Amino acid sequence: MDKPNVIEFDDVDIYQEDNLVLQKVDFRLAPAESCYIIGKSGSGKTSLLKAIYGSIPIHTGKAVAVGFVLNDMESKNIPMLRRKLGMVFQDFILFEDWSVGHNLMYILEATGWKDRSQMTARVLQVLEMVGLTGYEKKPVTSLSGGEQQRVVIARALLNNPPIIIADEPTGNLDPDTSDEILYLLNRLAREFGTSIIIATHDYRLIQKFPARVYKCEGGKITEVG
Ligand SMILES: Nc1ncnc2c1ncn2[C@@H]1O[C@H](COP(=O)(O)OP(=O)(O)OP(=O)(O)O)[C@@H](O)[C@H]1O
Ligand SMILES: [Mg+2]
Repeated sequence: MDKPNVIEFDDVDIYQEDNLVLQKVDFRLAPAESCYIIGKSGSGKTSLLKAIYGSIPIHTGKAVAVGFVLNDMESKNIPMLRRKLGMVFQDFILFEDWSVGHNLMYILEATGWKDRSQMTARVLQVLEMVGLTGYEKKPVTSLSGGEQQRVVIARALLNNPPIIIADEPTGNLDPDTSDEILYLLNRLAREFGTSIIIATHDYRLIQKFPARVYKCEGGKITEVG
């Protein structure tokens, strides 16, 4: 039997406060599959991602993410959902006063890890996965923008999520550094079977790293060819 989709939205309305931002959303993503979410500013890209990570409540249709039914989800279940979602978001920034390793250890502590040697090993592992071997003691402020974004991706990988959801992961980066980040995300999808959703404005990246594209427009989200 085929593996179940990591995300499955059927006929879901997504609201921000009282505004219906996206109506009748049909959206699905298979294991190891990547897709882009595009659309003008204010069209609902972030809202879709927020619905997936349980920050916007869902009351219509049927929404499932990484095995969790999102409809009328109880807030006590949200931390367990988020542990299975690798989140790369601009408002979830690194603590700049801390070292790279401290930033990562902090997340392991917050998500229930106890064994120090296992935690240290995991930190080194995710840094290796993003090409930052040897960076654990460096202060975040000593890293370039692209390196910091790699740390953000390493942090998203700590709990081995089946999916990464990234909201404009290259927003503040120059073209070459953006390419490196996309190359990294694609490699993770290939090597570890991680599914990836990327909300972006950057059409250049879509041409360079092709994947399915969904567009938010006029309150709807549709797949574009
Ligand atoms: N916290 C909020 N409360 C009320 N309305 C909101 C909130 N956040 C966003 N909105 C509204 O929801 C709509 C969709 O916003 P959203 O952030 O999803 O767009 P976006 O496609 O991610 O835009 P951008 O490209 O600028 O990031 C917009 O009309 C916005 O004003
Ligand atoms: Mg947005």
